Amino acid sequence: MKLICEAAKKAGILAKERFDKEHTIDTKTRVSDVVTEVDFACQKIIVDTILKHLPEAKFVLEEGNGDTTIPNAECIFVVDPIDGTLNYTHSLPYFAVSIARVDYGEITEAAVYLPMTDEMFYAKKGSGAFLNGTQIVNKNNPTLERSFLVTGWPYDESLFDWTLRTIEKLARVTQEIRILGSSAAELCHLACGKLDGYWEVGLKPWDTAGGVLIAREAGVVISGLTGDYDLRSGEIVAAVPSIHERLREILKEVRS
Ligand code: IPD
Ligand code: CA
Ligand code: CA
Repeated sequence: MKLICEAAKKAGILAKERFDKEHTIDTKTRVSDVVTEVDFACQKIIVDTILKHLPEAKFVLEEGNGDTTIPNAECIFVVDPIDGTLNYTHSLPYFAVSIARVDYGEITEAAVYLPMTDEMFYAKKGSGAFLNGTQIVNKNNPTLERSFLVTGWPYDESLFDWTLRTIEKLARVTQEIRILGSSAAELCHLACGKLDGYWEVGLKPWDTAGGVLIAREAGVVISGLTGDYDLRSGEIVAAVPSIHERLREILKEVRS
């Protein structure tokens, strides 16, 4: 098995074993930004597994020292040990383990594992995206009016208002909108055609690094709100080609 898949799977198995048990829950930036002892344990498994095979690896970790800077070097692993921790603490089975390899600022490999459904998503830059070994392509071609979209709720309260206004506006011109609570899982479900588009602001690099490569390799258009997608910006607009530009235009209008 590929190294990052092996690491994600090991961590995911632990998260599944401890799912529905009592957890030590600490809050970070706000009441919804939580971390459990399982996040730390999963992160350790991932780091140890990767270091065993690649001692030169460097890490950007959600449960690390808080540094989000991605060094301009090769063999950097951006890790979200449990993406969707709030769901996890409520025993809601929608969360993912996300690992992305970044070389000189470019995402080159990604594994996102959903332990509760045993879905392993994997992509290598230029080689397509895969779900449990089978290639996935999002061939959906909806109009905006028929599109099934998902967004996320930011931790930064100053972004609440904008997020609410985007939902207000888009709910009237699309099929419906979801907030599922794990950007990594949402991007993978967009990659395999269960969703048509996703937007969010206020993200950290580890939230999207894995899912972005998987979605992009599956034919999803990935951008920022105004320019290209940038791991550091925290903004993402990801959608199938038939709706991406219109979705982005509406989001930009709401912003101003
Ligand atoms: C969060 C999830 C959520 C998104 C938040 C993220 P976490 O990550 O991806 O869907 O809306 O912005 O921070 O804290 O559960 O790893
Ligand atoms: Ca997390
Ligand atoms: Ca996250």
